[in-house]
Amino acid sequence: MADNRRRRMISLIVSFLFSVSLSCLCLAPIPASAHLKFGVNGKFKILQVADMHFATGATTRCEDVLPSQTAHCSDLNTTAFMSRVIAAEKPDLIVFTGDNIFGADAIDAKKSLNAAFAPAIASKIPWVAVLGNHDQESTLTRQGLMNHIVKLPNTLSQVNPPEAAHYIDGFGNYNLQVHGAADSSLQNKSVLNLYLLDSGDYSKVDSLNSKYDWIKTSQQFWFDRTSKRLQKEYNAKPNPQVGSAPGLAFFHIPLPEFWSFDSTNTTKGVRQEPISSATTNSGFFTTLVTRGDVKSVFVGHDHVNDFCGELKGLNLCYGGGFGYHAYGKAGWERRARVVVVDLNKKSNGSWGDVKSIRTWKRLDDEHLSVIDTQLLWNSSAKGLVVPRL
Ligand SMILES: *[C@@H]1O[C@H](CO)[C@@H](O)[C@H](O)[C@H]1NC(C)=O
Ligand SMILES: *[C@@H]1O[C@H](CO)[C@@H](O)[C@H](O)[C@H]1NC(C)=O
Ligand SMILES: *[C@@H]1O[C@H](CO)[C@@H](O)[C@H](O)[C@H]1NC(C)=O
Ligand SMILES: *[C@@H]1O[C@H](CO)[C@@H](O)[C@H](O)[C@H]1NC(C)=O
Ligand SMILES: *[C@@H]1O[C@H](CO)[C@@H](O)[C@H](O)[C@H]1NC(C)=O
Repeated sequence: MADNRRRRMISLIVSFLFSVSLSCLCLAPIPASAHLKFGVNGKFKILQVADMHFATGATTRCEDVLPSQTAHCSDLNTTAFMSRVIAAEKPDLIVFTGDNIFGADAIDAKKSLNAAFAPAIASKIPWVAVLGNHDQESTLTRQGLMNHIVKLPNTLSQVNPPEAAHYIDGFGNYNLQVHGAADSSLQNKSVLNLYLLDSGDYSKVDSLNSKYDWIKTSQQFWFDRTSKRLQKEYNAKPNPQVGSAPGLAFFHIPLPEFWSFDSTNTTKGVRQEPISSATTNSGFFTTLVTRGDVKSVFVGHDHVNDFCGELKGLNLCYGGGFGYHAYGKAGWERRARVVVVDLNKKSNGSWGDVKSIRTWKRLDDEHLSVIDTQLLWNSSAKGLVVPRL
């Protein structure tokens, strides 16, 4: 009798421990030290998801779809599109560039965030997010939102960089390093640097007469310092490299320089609405061009603009609206941007530094059509700027 009870107790404890360890395995976040790296195919692929505007799920209706589509369309179509595009592209990283949730229609910000990111979490692919101007219009502040996001499974998001947390404006400023291919001489070096920034929500400075916020001096200072530190590491032994590794920047609100393009001179894609940048210019474009490492900026915010344009060696790209509860244009498919970075192959067959940065978009139509494929940058077209440390 006593023996039986003990055996049952032991088997209960064992199965309890087993299920605890299983759930820990599934929920364990990717450790912050786990850096990203190029694949053995010499490629690193990013999926940009802009403006999901997720609210409550099945009960949240779609905006701006064809009359024939209205009856059977909800937030779940946003979820389905994400699952499909992740399966089709198999990216190495998913970047959400803000307005992940539409706060005004979200009853519980945590639930909406969890549901919005669910397909990315389920894919087990590392993902990161920054905030837009609508995320905080529900039950969490911007800080509260980032605090929640960084705890979700498989994310590499950060609230703010530890070394700058005491001075930087906003929540969700951080950088990610992408190391060279495994077993190559650059496996321990960042050959591609990603900068994620909080472009804020609405201006709090009445006299500047700007509706939208901007990237503050403190953030530009952090970017400049980080870019210089990364270049020093890139140039250092062992395997010292020349110049700086290329970078990509992701945030929500376009820079005023996006106004430089009309329908005649975007390189690919369309401009179908005005640019909702701040009406004041905080100088981030100048900061980026001066440093010279960032080759392209990717934003969201204006859902029916999906162009890239090049100005002074810097590409300015929109992701194009992704979410069905976001305003859009009926009959103009929701879309996502893909960015692929390729490495140079050395004469002995091993992978080297970055060769090119390409992009295209995927439409949420029957075949997930690929459109607007273009080269954004290649290493034979080195910029005019030689960044100085
Ligand atoms: C939304 O999803 C439903 C259910 O799968 C589907 O019938 C409908 O065509 C989708 N609508 C759009 C606009 O994709
Ligand atoms: C290929 O050449 C590079 C130098 O260009 C060297 O660092 C690397 O170890 C070589 N790889 C192999 C597999 O021989
Ligand atoms: C990279 O770092 C690992 C671990 O410290 C080391 O074993 C390896 O030799 C390094 N590779 C190169 C190319 O520096
Ligand atoms: C695009 O064309 C407009 C005039 O149509 C011009 O004002 C603008 O400077 C051009 N932009 C670039 C980047 O060339
Ligand atoms: C590299 O970029 C330059 C400048 O944009 C372009 O002229 C050249 O054709 C590109 N090279 C390749 C191989 O695509």
